[in-house]
Amino acid sequence: MIDNEHSGKIVMSGIRPTGFLHLGNYFGAIRNYVRLQNEFECYFMVADLHSLTTHPDTKELKGNVHRVLAENIACGLDPEKAAIYCQSHLYETGELYLYLNMLAYKGELEKTVTFKEKARLHPQNINAGLLTYPVLQAADIIIHRASYVPVGKDQEQHLEMSRTFANRFNHRYGNIFPEPHAFNYNQELVKVPSLDGTGKMSKSENQMATLYLADDDETIMKKVKKAKTDTVADPSQGMPEAIQNLFLLMKLVCDKAVVEKFENDFKNGSIRYGDAKEQLGKDMIAFISPIREKARNILENKQYLKEVMEKGAEKARKNAGKTMELVREAIGLKYF
Ligand code: TRP
Repeated sequence: MIDNEHSGKIVMSGIRPTGFLHLGNYFGAIRNYVRLQNEFECYFMVADLHSLTTHPDTKELKGNVHRVLAENIACGLDPEKAAIYCQSHLYETGELYLYLNMLAYKGELEKTVTFKEKARLHPQNINAGLLTYPVLQAADIIIHRASYVPVGKDQEQHLEMSRTFANRFNHRYGNIFPEPHAFNYNQELVKVPSLDGTGKMSKSENQMATLYLADDDETIMKKVKKAKTDTVADPSQGMPEAIQNLFLLMKLVCDKAVVEKFENDFKNGSIRYGDAKEQLGKDMIAFISPIREKARNILENKQYLKEVMEKGAEKARKNAGKTMELVREAIGLKYF
């Protein structure tokens, strides 16, 4: 067991069930989860209830929940080590959400960037669940009395609000919750650039520029071969962004010696982008295909998925149940 400022700290994170994971999800988040589960008590949850705030149609929910579970497990999340569960299976979260709602003010919720963005995109469906999305997220986290939340920059405001609600509860009713903070192993988040030369890989944008963990070998090679490299680069002028991005991707999956060879080729102006991409394509396939096949097998094994969810919910309930006893007592809901 670790014995330092981390000892006894609890880790919690939520994963949106929005279909196919890509390389950016892997290097940005999942890889950290896999490492964290060996060092901390971890709770990883599929945020199915949050998805109802924007997707009231639930036709695809089951498939998406299964897929996100299968892909995360294929990447190395281990149900024996971490609690891997669905938000909707931990009923206690709904109760804590209700209490926290009494401590969350309309004004601060309306100022949330993600709320404003979603309200702008869907003016027909500005529901109270959308407004209180950060309250539910706070409940997810603090119900486990988690201190560390491995999430990206886009979640910083939600986390800040979680701290606010936790502190407010503590001040009003008694000190129960630690302050949750974002957690990252490397200060600098790894950037996984998209294949079209600019920006990061992302779920919604250009599908040809994003490598999904479910892509078949042919698709991976095709996408990599199409990666933008057509800039005429003069090595003395430094490296154009598209080429830097190609190297960033190579560094994720290729041998160091291979990357160095192509870096040298670039420096002395002899680099052949076709060869570099062929190499990257091969190494990408070697990286992605075992994950893809593992996920496919897990996805076919519904009994296994059921067991994972049951076991995860049981572990989550055990911890959350203890918190809720303290919460009810602190609020003053014990009448006998
Ligand atoms: N809002 C997060 C996202 O969009 C998902 C999420 C829900 C979450 N509950 C959480 C993340 C609790 C961390 C902790 O990705």
